[in-house]
Amino acid sequence: MEKKELSGSVALVTGGSRGIGRAVAHRLATLGASVAICGRDRQALEDSAADMEKLGARAFFHLAEVTNVGQVSELVAKTEAALGPIRILVNNAGIGLFGPAHEKTEADWDRVLNTNLKSVFLVSKAVVPSMIRRGAGDIINISSLAGKNTFAGGGIYCASKWGLMGLSGCMFEDLREYGIRVSVICPGSVATEFSGSRPKDPSKALHAEDVAHAVEAIVTQRPGSFLSEMHLRPLRKA
Ligand SMILES: NC(=O)c1ccc[n+]([C@@H]2O[C@H](COP(=O)([O-])OP(=O)(O)OC[C@H]3O[C@@H](n4cnc5c(N)ncnc54)[C@H](OP(=O)(O)O)[C@@H]3O)[C@@H](O)[C@H]2O)c1
Repeated sequence: MEKKELSGSVALVTGGSRGIGRAVAHRLATLGASVAICGRDRQALEDSAADMEKLGARAFFHLAEVTNVGQVSELVAKTEAALGPIRILVNNAGIGLFGPAHEKTEADWDRVLNTNLKSVFLVSKAVVPSMIRRGAGDIINISSLAGKNTFAGGGIYCASKWGLMGLSGCMFEDLREYGIRVSVICPGSVATEFSGSRPKDPSKALHAEDVAHAVEAIVTQRPGSFLSEMHLRPLRKA
């Protein structure tokens, strides 16, 4: 039987229960990886993991809030106990909250910044030591074109994603000497349930599978080089 490209690799995808994270997790499973996912909705996680098992992959799910350091360390420990050392980490979990920053509350700021930025710090910090010991790993942070641009009503979300761009760039400089590749993907609008919104014209939006394809390109890149930053846009503008 043909050996799949990611056979023997373990991936952790935060927020793999729906949307982009689910498509990424399923793509990695199709490529032969064993895949762990986390989120806060048990039923959605169970369904996503069951579908990966139908693809012939080993799958593991764990209820975890990515902003909580205790739950993050339990997630990483349980994933490694169930599947083995994590070779691929996709920091995908995120939320959107839009409107003028001056109309938002301190709690809004904390929720978005903690989910979209602090979580990447916490989950990466929990996974990196074992990647360093093994001298290999791929960390892929799902940012956004909102991490490169500004727009009315984007204040808090853009702040989280611009912060994530800075964190990702510094992480790749800190970790490249250990054989760990850190990449960041900046998708434009993707047709998912993100922040309860729908793209103006879904036929002209990106699809979660487009982001999964970009992740595949990153993790199957030849050793010795890496795709540090990818901007993903729909071909036709809505
Ligand atoms: N959709 C877009 O247009 C778009 C464009 C560019 C970038 N992005 C980025 O892509 C990523 C995924 O977005 P999506 O469109 O797939 O959104 P989505 O459909 O709303 O999915 C978000 C995922 O993250 C999980 N999640 C959210 N907060 C969490 C928390 N505190 N702890 C654990 N899991 C959490 C959700 O699970 P639970 O809610 O069950 O916890 C869900 O699995 C985000 O980082 C987003 O900023 C999205």
